[in-house]
Amino acid sequence: MKELKILIILVIFTFITYYGIEPFAHTQMSPHVPPANFDMEKEDITLSNVRIEEAQKVLANAEEKLKQQKTQEDVEKQQKILDNAQKDLAVAEDRLLLYKNLWESVKGIKALKGDTEKGGEIFSMTCVSCHSLKSQGFEPLIDDALASESYGVVVPDLGKAGAIYDKNFLAALIINPAHALKLDHKFNDEEPFPMTQFFAIEGDLDQEVADIIAYLQSIAPKEVSGKEVFEDACLRCHDLKYDNLLRPTEQTALEGYMGSNPPDLSMMIRARSVEYLKTFINDPQKNIPGTSMPRVGLNEQSQDKLINYLEQIGDSKKSERTTLGYYMIGFFIILAILAYLWKNAVWKELH
Ligand code: HEC
Ligand code: HEC
Repeated sequence: MKELKILIILVIFTFITYYGIEPFAHTQMSPHVPPANFDMEKEDITLSNVRIEEAQKVLANAEEKLKQQKTQEDVEKQQKILDNAQKDLAVAEDRLLLYKNLWESVKGIKALKGDTEKGGEIFSMTCVSCHSLKSQGFEPLIDDALASESYGVVVPDLGKAGAIYDKNFLAALIINPAHALKLDHKFNDEEPFPMTQFFAIEGDLDQEVADIIAYLQSIAPKEVSGKEVFEDACLRCHDLKYDNLLRPTEQTALEGYMGSNPPDLSMMIRARSVEYLKTFINDPQKNIPGTSMPRVGLNEQSQDKLINYLEQIGDSKKSERTTLGYYMIGFFIILAILAYLWKNAVWKELH
């Protein structure tokens, strides 16, 4: 009976550690990040409100501390901190307004039905000056080296864009790329984003954007694999060496454009986690505020496929490991039973 008691105590402590202490430590060490939201309007407005709340807290704290300062020097120092906190709050509030305006202007487009033929015409008058569309016979106008130099990054082919990206994101991207990609902190009127804003050709902006999107959807394949999502949406910036994928963009140009070297993603699924990637890809600013990695704007389906693919490449032994885990548990259960029976047999003779 003593053994049973020891076993029960051991099980209880294991459960407390596993389901209590470990998750608690995790919440304390890494702040809570809400899950990915593919309604990007809601996502942007929620995150902006969270940032405003955070900035308000910092400001209130700085005001409180200012009252406690005694010497002139300390008061001046604290005043500077307070001024910065006020500026941060103003930036956060501006950003909320910016996203409200962006998504407000998408509302009209959402309601419209696009004309694929017209969309094709508009596309061939505007977008093809930078984007190729090989499936429709539009080859790139310049080579990768020149594209890297001109735009900082090789411009993606859009043959699958209609299947890969969220429809509302595409609308936002076409009317205001820097805001849709959440790179407003990096690009503005003085430092313009390399993809130009689209202004209507004949006059009705909303209708023309809806036409372009309808066109992109009509030429996209029905099924797109995770690898294809990677190639079209990530490969211009990230290598995936484990699958022999090397980005076409020249490194120095890319570093100049992004301000840092985007990492190889072969092992990222293990360095971070599936959960992390799910929230990160949908809205990089949520996990790394101020990062230059753009929101990629994938729809939920293509994001899931992409993550599966990254898991296959980075963690190909996962299913083997899980099966082996079950075998090991089975082995130990049998071992425990045999050990118990053996012990009983030995002790019976000794008593
Ligand atoms: C002046 C060049 C230029 C024009 C014109 C242009 N783009 Fe782009 N586009 C780019 C560049 C550069 C990128 C890559 C930006 C990056 O990765 O940071 C891009 C990226 C994209 C992406 C991928 C966005 C993502 O989330 O990964 C889509 C979709 C796109 N453009 C659609 C269009 C459409 C539709 C048009 C026409 C209305 C258009 N572009 C016109 C330069 C251009
Ligand atoms: C226009 C270039 C660009 C594109 C396109 C791009 N990324 Fe990134 N990515 C970056 C940069 C730059 C960083 C480094 C960010 C930093 O450290 O602030 C980064 C970092 C990352 C990280 C590491 C985050 C971390 O916690 O360190 C992951 C994961 C990632 N990207 C995934 C993706 C995936 C998946 C795609 C395609 C769906 C993609 N990226 C498309 C530029 C890009």
